[in-house]
Amino acid sequence: MKNTYYITTPIYYASGNLHIGHTYTTIISDCLARFKRLQGYDTIFLTGTDEHGLKIQQNAEKASKDPKDYVDEIVDKIKELWDLFNIKYDKFVRTTDPYHIKTVQNIFETLYKNGDIYKGTYEGHYCVPCESFFTESQLENGKCPDCKRDVTLQKEEAYFFKISKYADKLLKYIEDNPHFIQPESRKNEMINNFIKPGLQDLCVSRTSFKWGIPVNFDSDHVIYVWIDALSNYISALGYKNDEENLMESFWPADLHIVGKEIVRFHVIYWPIMLFALNLPLPKQVFGHGWLLIDGNKMSKSQGSVIDPIILSKHFPIDAIRYFLLREVTFGNDGIFNNELFILKTNADLSNLLGNLVSRTISMVEKYFGGVIPSQKEILDVDLNLINNVKNLKNIVTKNMDELKISNALSEIFNVISLSNKYIDETEPWVLGKDESKKDRLGTVLYNLCESIRVVSILLSPFMPDTSLKIKQKLNYKLDNFDSIENFDGTESGVSINKGENLFPRIDVEKKLEELKNS
Ligand code: MSP
Repeated sequence: MKNTYYITTPIYYASGNLHIGHTYTTIISDCLARFKRLQGYDTIFLTGTDEHGLKIQQNAEKASKDPKDYVDEIVDKIKELWDLFNIKYDKFVRTTDPYHIKTVQNIFETLYKNGDIYKGTYEGHYCVPCESFFTESQLENGKCPDCKRDVTLQKEEAYFFKISKYADKLLKYIEDNPHFIQPESRKNEMINNFIKPGLQDLCVSRTSFKWGIPVNFDSDHVIYVWIDALSNYISALGYKNDEENLMESFWPADLHIVGKEIVRFHVIYWPIMLFALNLPLPKQVFGHGWLLIDGNKMSKSQGSVIDPIILSKHFPIDAIRYFLLREVTFGNDGIFNNELFILKTNADLSNLLGNLVSRTISMVEKYFGGVIPSQKEILDVDLNLINNVKNLKNIVTKNMDELKISNALSEIFNVISLSNKYIDETEPWVLGKDESKKDRLGTVLYNLCESIRVVSILLSPFMPDTSLKIKQKLNYKLDNFDSIENFDGTESGVSINKGENLFPRIDVEKKLEELKNS
């Protein structure tokens, strides 16, 4: 039987344009999913949109649109953005999709019938933009602790989910399963700041607005945010709806990737919902950091947004993917800055990767008429490169298994640097002057082509376009994961295609000026 892998991103609010911070989350998940597919896993990568709630209802009113028409337009734009960034998702769930609505209503009813949901009155401090209620002690200087804006005191009849009933079970589960919440620091924060101080029952319905999934046995109420949103991870697998049921093969999820501010919902409410439904818990929830500009989280309302569409007009998509995956240590906050980004693109993608490919291809053209030569006698100087290339698959896999994405990339780039160094050591231009060294020259160039092939295959989850371009240039046929262990997958006698430079150098000053005016 094939191994399966199920990875998810949060579903994005369909309330406006997404910025580079959202794009970051999705690129990470896409990269991890692509890596699993490369390894041969039967993979589902799920993303989607969170389309209900007061904020969206208000945005639609402001735009004089029906809420569904309003979100339809936004969802189209989000899908276009993911296409632009080469995000290869397998499923896209919308919380307005009829199958999702059915799942959510069924879950709500099941929880109610089992006595896990009850009716009561809610009173609390509500933050409209964040769609969250806060207790007095959670407010910061009387304001919303997340966005720092004003909150209003609200009271209404509502259904409650008996979170408190499951608190001990949750704590035990987290303690017994040390990998459930990662990184470690987030786990400690959850236990000490939220679970141990005591969990309050969660308000899970609203009567004050209409744009939500109605409670099917009490139509004055709409199901409020987290039961609706979190259920997407199983509605997409056909749980309690009429779609194909993939629960048996794909649940529990292997990995929920979430930003640090929503870890809480994924490691408290979500597991408790699953306990109450008698379903197993996801194997891991990973809370990554934020992309920051000038030390602040990117936020449209605070005016500090890098628009991924504008960025994509100035730079190759793969350069953006590379920067985000390489420069931000997964788990920590990272900084996006145009200058840093251009410098990194020039240093790594033009100077190291681009140069290696173009030098090698030029030499195959110059000395062998564009046909890949064969490998003959191996010398000591070759062995260092060959062994490093052979080991690369395992090293990258280990890092990816541990979600050390940046390290995985830096290992690949070590081999790229080593290959450039190998050119300097073996001096093909000297060998090319002496007809008696033709075999030796052929071996050197074969080794370089094979090294590039392996690098290109391993880069495919990170930079899919670039990997494809290299494949077309070197015209290699073997591109699977098994073919990169023995240093023999390049076929001699095959004609290469020079094509264009992969990453032409960017003029830093000029580009920064252009960006200022865009
Ligand atoms: N709809 C909820 C999630 C429900 S999941 C069942 C939501 N949506 S969101 O659109 O606000 O955020 C989606 C994801 O984008 C979150 O994981 C969030 O952390 C991430 N990011 C938003 N801004 C970000 C940065 N500046 N940097 C990195 N990630 C960021 O929350």
